[in-house]
Amino acid sequence: MSTAVRFHDQHVYAAGSSFRDDVIAGLGRSPKALSPKYFYDERGSRLFESICRQPEYYLTRTEEGILAGAAEEVASLAGPESLLVELGSGASRKVRLLLEAMRPSRYLGVDISRDFLLQSTRRLAADYPWLEVHAAWADFSERLRLPSGVDGRRVVAFFPGSSIGNFAPAQAEAFLARLRRALPPGSGVLIGVDLVKRHDLLEAAYNDAAGVTADFNLNLLERMRRELDAEVEVDAFRHRAFFNLPASRIEMHLVSRQRQAITLEGQRFTFEEGETLHTENSCKYSMAGFQALAARAGYRSRAVWCDDEALFSVHYLSSD
Ligand code: AVI
Repeated sequence: MSTAVRFHDQHVYAAGSSFRDDVIAGLGRSPKALSPKYFYDERGSRLFESICRQPEYYLTRTEEGILAGAAEEVASLAGPESLLVELGSGASRKVRLLLEAMRPSRYLGVDISRDFLLQSTRRLAADYPWLEVHAAWADFSERLRLPSGVDGRRVVAFFPGSSIGNFAPAQAEAFLARLRRALPPGSGVLIGVDLVKRHDLLEAAYNDAAGVTADFNLNLLERMRRELDAEVEVDAFRHRAFFNLPASRIEMHLVSRQRQAITLEGQRFTFEEGETLHTENSCKYSMAGFQALAARAGYRSRAVWCDDEALFSVHYLSSD
């Protein structure tokens, strides 16, 4: 098997969904909001990798522990020679915990950050010469499609990290239903879901002492400056993350420290002191709550694992 990565350019430059258009729309609405997908430019992707190593951010290490312990069971649910599709593959690190046990014949990494995707999948291909590695540059939150000719005996979609939590519950359900329709019948979905827990632990995970999450959040403003030539005083904003109990979600905001404006292409977007740009929701579920959501999206729960402290869960769903 060659160690080259087969690259599939599925990125759609749809009118109305570019960073520029979404920033203008998001700053113009009340309350101001922007999709968290814009965190992940090259710098944002690196900052996110650093968040995953922070002591307060229990999600990554806990999920990795669960995956390492569950790999053999996942392998028997998936069967041999599967196509393993990782949605939001990032550094393609967690999938390494599954590969030796699962021995899929193909891996497809799908990510919105092109250069990061290429670097990560190239490293994966070099480290697993027996694996056929594909990379699809795509915004899977908008459109899901397997590149033609990329298949396996069974398709298993791997969606780790509790990224599903970045959708509101109704959107998460719609996304999972779309994923089910995009995959062949009988496919599996292996998905990591963060659990509701003590609020101090949740809030600490999004307010790490080293300030990496703050930099990740503020990078959105840097990105507006770098890519859109926006006039924005980054230091005049601060990071805020808190648990919204009724909505069962962590919310991240950029809070204006003073009355000010962001200017973009001659348009002024004013902020009052204390006004925020809402940048992310990270929804937290109970195990039963997530299973019910998956059932509404048309899945059968085949297995669920969690750590001893019930911090995080991993679900194997089947689409038939
Ligand atoms: C990618 N996603 C699941 C992360 C989360 O926990 O919601 C993104 C993140 N935001 C701040 N820290 C991490």
